[in-house]
Amino acid sequence: MTAIANRLDGAVADVENANIARIYDYYLGGLYNFAIDRQKAERIKLTLPSVDLLARGNRDWLRRSVRYLVAQGVEQFIDIAAGLPTANNTHEVAHALNPRARVIYVDNDPSAVIHGEEILAKEPLVAMAEADGRHPEQVWAHPAIRDLIDLSQPVGIILGGLLVFVPDEDDPKGLVAAYRDALAPGSYLAISHLTADTVDAETRGQVDRMVAAYQAGVGATLHVRDKATFASWFEGMELVDPGVTLMADWRPDPGLDLDAQTPSRQLGYGAMGRIAG
Ligand SMILES: C[S@@+](CC[C@H](N)C(=O)[O-])C[C@H]1O[C@@H](n2cnc3c(N)ncnc32)[C@H](O)[C@@H]1O
Repeated sequence: MTAIANRLDGAVADVENANIARIYDYYLGGLYNFAIDRQKAERIKLTLPSVDLLARGNRDWLRRSVRYLVAQGVEQFIDIAAGLPTANNTHEVAHALNPRARVIYVDNDPSAVIHGEEILAKEPLVAMAEADGRHPEQVWAHPAIRDLIDLSQPVGIILGGLLVFVPDEDDPKGLVAAYRDALAPGSYLAISHLTADTVDAETRGQVDRMVAAYQAGVGATLHVRDKATFASWFEGMELVDPGVTLMADWRPDPGLDLDAQTPSRQLGYGAMGRIAG
């Protein structure tokens, strides 16, 4: 990768400061990160040693969700708060099963978008969209969405990294409902979220310190939520079997439970809702 990626409009990625998307890529074992990202990632990892397994568990859940959606006939995907399109992300999983699938990655971080555009330069059916996922109207209005996505047909929306950044006062449930209400029947919303419902006091302390380390390291406030709150976001949708579960328990691949022995297994919920016809 080039150290600084140029866009046609002359924008450049910020490679001086650590970046959430690149820290995440580092946790996933990706190569799209810089020394400053790795340094901050290791500092965060001191607070919650299994934080990289949590990221991998989240990505594994996402891959299983995309596979499920392709099997249901969904051909268009919008992955909101996607981070980088690396490490076997949505388009790679979808295209392995259906090369005609169209995928838009949405992120509000210009650096993630610049890197992503560079990575996706040779992918005609995949694009990055710079938009704030807290404002669905920004997402729908983006030229990449208008070009590649037909909202009159079923869409798979993935919110695997957004709501953890949305405070209660910004109404995460209302935000999910706004996405739900804009989608055609037969569409799906797949959501994962950070939780600490069932962990012991020691792990809860680690999660709290991890949240503080993200705040100190990259200025992002993460929100931890309980199962009832998470489940309430699926109002008005049919929950896909097996309903609201830990991410690792959502349609697991037999024998592939990477973090079975670590506390990170308890730290994420995953579920998918279908918009009925
Ligand atoms: C943890 S990373 C990506 C996780 C990825 N979705 C996955 O599940 O594997 C979270 C991403 O969310 C992005 N993000 C945070 N707030 C956002 C917002 N309001 N709109 C769009 N993207 C956002 C960050 O820039 C970051 O790239």
